[in-house]
Order: sequence, then structure tokens, then C-alpha cells
Amino acid sequence: MSAIFARDRGWSNSYLSQAERESIEQEAQAYPQRDALCIEALRIVQQHRGWVSDDSVAAIADYLGLGAAQVDAVATFYNLIFRQPVGRQVIYLCNSVTCWMLGCDALRARIGEELGIDFGQTSADGEYTLLPITCLGDCDHAPALMIADRHHHDLDPDSLAALLQPPASGQAKE
Ligand code: FES
Repeated sequence: MSAIFARDRGWSNSYLSQAERESIEQEAQAYPQRDALCIEALRIVQQHRGWVSDDSVAAIADYLGLGAAQVDAVATFYNLIFRQPVGRQVIYLCNSVTCWMLGCDALRARIGEELGIDFGQTSADGEYTLLPITCLGDCDHAPALMIADRHHHDLDPDSLAALLQPPASGQAKE
């Protein structure tokens, strides 16, 4: 662990925004113990900043009265918490067994052609990051993926490519 994990107490006061602290306190009403807030605090900081940096881990630890290593362990365990910067939209491509048998590799290859990225990479324009994920629960409609929290299934490379097109001017992306 780097020196960032040895911040003085009070680091959270200068690092976490008021909005972040207010959101954490709102969630705290549902949790009798502050250490149980760890995942919610990580999720809130990620909502505000896009990802969870070492600075954020140290600040959350300070705010909740936990060890930074404890918060870091939680943050790295959950694959929906990002410990590195990601694109504005994250593509979670399921590569578990059913999707693997029914064509997730072809989807992965098409994403590479369309966006120039493979697992763990972000497109040059900063729009998309591609990550693998275990079963999304859509096995009967495999292959499946999730883009920006929306599930898409029964995909083939062409229908996937259509999802990656920018929305027409003035229209919200589906
Ligand atoms: S294996 Fe991909 S959704 Fe279940």
C-alpha cells in the first residue's frame, strides 16, 4: 500500500464533497453500524466521480472509521466498483459458459472492430470501456451483455453493432 493509505484523520473532510457526505448519511439511516456503509459509500463516490481512486478509498476509510486496506478489499472484491478510470459507458460482456458457447467471442471481436478495444480497455474517445462479467442471468437468451446498466440479449454481431451507434441528433440513446 502506498503512502496514500496513511492519511491524517480529517482527510475525508477536505476530500469528500458535501453532496457525497450527505448521500452517505442518507444511506446511514438504513445501517445501524457505520462499517456496513462501506459498499454504499463506494457506490456513492463512484456515482459522483466515475471511479474510486486511492484518494477516495482513503477518504471513505477515514469517514467511516475503517482501515483503508479494509475499504480497498471491499472495493476490489466487487466488480461493479471501478478502481481505475472507465469510459462514460461500461460494456459488460458475459463470457460465462452459455454465452461462450453461443457466440460471445464473436461479439467481443465485433466490439474490437467497432471500438478498437478488448477486455479492460477504453475507446479512444473515452465513451466505452469493455469488461468481462460472469453470468448475467440471461442464459436462455444468450449471448448477453449490459451497457450502462441496461441488459441486451439474443445478440449477434450486427445487432450489437447497432447498439454502439451514436443516437440520432436530438434522440436519447436506447
Ligand atoms: S452465461 Fe451469459 S447470461 Fe448466463
